[in-house]
Amino acid sequence: PDGAHVAALVIGTGYGGSVAALRLARAGVDVHMIEMGMSWDTAGPDGRIFANTTRPDHRSFWLRTRTKQPLSGFLGFPLDKDVPRYTGILDAEEFGGITVYQGRGVGGGSLVNGGMAVTPRRENFPAVLPSVDADEMYDVYYPRANAALGVGVVDQGWWESAACYQYARVGRKHAERSGFPFVMVPGVYDWDYLEQEAAGTVPASALAGEVLFGNNHGKKSLPKTYLARAAATGRVFVSPLHKVTSVAPAGGGAYTVVMEQLNTGGDVTAVKAVTADKVFFAAGSVGTGKLLTRLKATGVLPGLNGEIGRGWGDNGNVMCGRANHMWDPTGTLQASMPTAGIDNWRAGGAFAEVAPLPTGIETYASFYLSITRNPHRAAFSWDAAAGKVVLDWQTSWKQPSIDAARTIFDRINAKEGTIYRTDLFGAYKIWGDHLTYHPLGGAVLNRATDNYGRLHGHPGLYVIDGSLIPGNTSVNPFVTITALAERNIEKIIATDL
Ligand code: FDA
Repeated sequence: PDGAHVAALVIGTGYGGSVAALRLARAGVDVHMIEMGMSWDTAGPDGRIFANTTRPDHRSFWLRTRTKQPLSGFLGFPLDKDVPRYTGILDAEEFGGITVYQGRGVGGGSLVNGGMAVTPRRENFPAVLPSVDADEMYDVYYPRANAALGVGVVDQGWWESAACYQYARVGRKHAERSGFPFVMVPGVYDWDYLEQEAAGTVPASALAGEVLFGNNHGKKSLPKTYLARAAATGRVFVSPLHKVTSVAPAGGGAYTVVMEQLNTGGDVTAVKAVTADKVFFAAGSVGTGKLLTRLKATGVLPGLNGEIGRGWGDNGNVMCGRANHMWDPTGTLQASMPTAGIDNWRAGGAFAEVAPLPTGIETYASFYLSITRNPHRAAFSWDAAAGKVVLDWQTSWKQPSIDAARTIFDRINAKEGTIYRTDLFGAYKIWGDHLTYHPLGGAVLNRATDNYGRLHGHPGLYVIDGSLIPGNTSVNPFVTITALAERNIEKIIATDL
């Protein structure tokens, strides 16, 4: 409520925020979490909480009147359509040179993501987080994060013959025929549930193509893991549909946190202020990066240093499709949860997840989301005239990512005598180079903060999300975001409380 005082306030309920809330609560601290999105715990008129990927409705997108699908078309048919404006689950946030997809709701990105739970190869870790002790991460915090997230692997024997992973086996065949290492990748989907879906004994979710707009079953998203355990402590209170707009020094070492309450049409229905002894920024790379950039530029948090807003990267994301021969069908039924990837990081700077294209028809297409080594880093800055934060990412900065992805797919195409699909991202466009699913950076560890996420210049303010990671993790990022948050919160609880 307006005027309340809380011990610890967490902005955002994604991976970083959920780790902070659970660990603080277990240490005896009362925690208030503020989340701009909905709580996603109530079924809609169709009896389901979440909309299907192939049938987007008002629940699908954050405050848009037209969908903005990552794939713009298919075989010449445009995919986007009008929808009622609503505080939906997937935000396609547009900056000048890139569209950044993010989850909105209690659970953040865990609500919409593919669940691929990948720990970077240890040899790549020093480039991911140079100031962090790798031994500690691989001995303690990665295992802790993987266990708490419920990470597991699909049963290989089942996978080898499951119709819904034919697309992945075709991906393996082509990778191996061209000499690339092919790796099975763990995930947070309940693999036993998936087998039951395939057997037809439970309601389908991954096999109904659900992913981008939420999974009605099967996925161990944060509300089922960290946030459920946090709630069980009795010390964590969550306010959905509340957006933090300001954090300012309140005297006595505390902070005044101002937030807007939203209705499902996105209108502000109330403005509230609370005071907090400790504030954790966990609004995601874009949310935290934007908020801190504005608070510094407008003099609200004058002690923040010049690294605020910097070091932002797209994890080198680039998408592409390949057109297979008629003898390599990828299957009419495709599980929406990826299980495997092509690892050419060492030789070519690309790790390509073999992604589903769950259209319900045979497409003869192989679809990939590549994570690549891309050196470009953007910065957020405050545009006073426009009254908003902008990001200076350039579309042309994807070229190193395209080049890295080509080290895999040009070779596979040459070997197989196949070509790239040109119908997925607009007419005759091969590369999905306009977007990222993996925003990282904006308040980088050991630069904008100390080596544990304490913001410089304002004791009691912390960053604990993907904005700490300087732009690339070499694989899908949420396990690393979670493990880093586990490491940092342990230190903060031991020394600052
Ligand atoms: P995260 O974005 O999860 O949470 C931030 C929360 O803060 C959000 O809920 C947001 O609404 C809220 N917020 C923002 N500003 C606020 C404000 N001012 N006030 C209140 N609340 C605010 N990763 C991976 O490892 N494997 C995968 O398979 C995938 N797949 C994938 C698919 C798609 C479609 C997307 C969009 C993303 C992925 N990802 C992924 C990426 C992964 O989901 C992402 O890296 C993490 O969710 C980031 O975690 P954070 O804790 O940093 O923020």
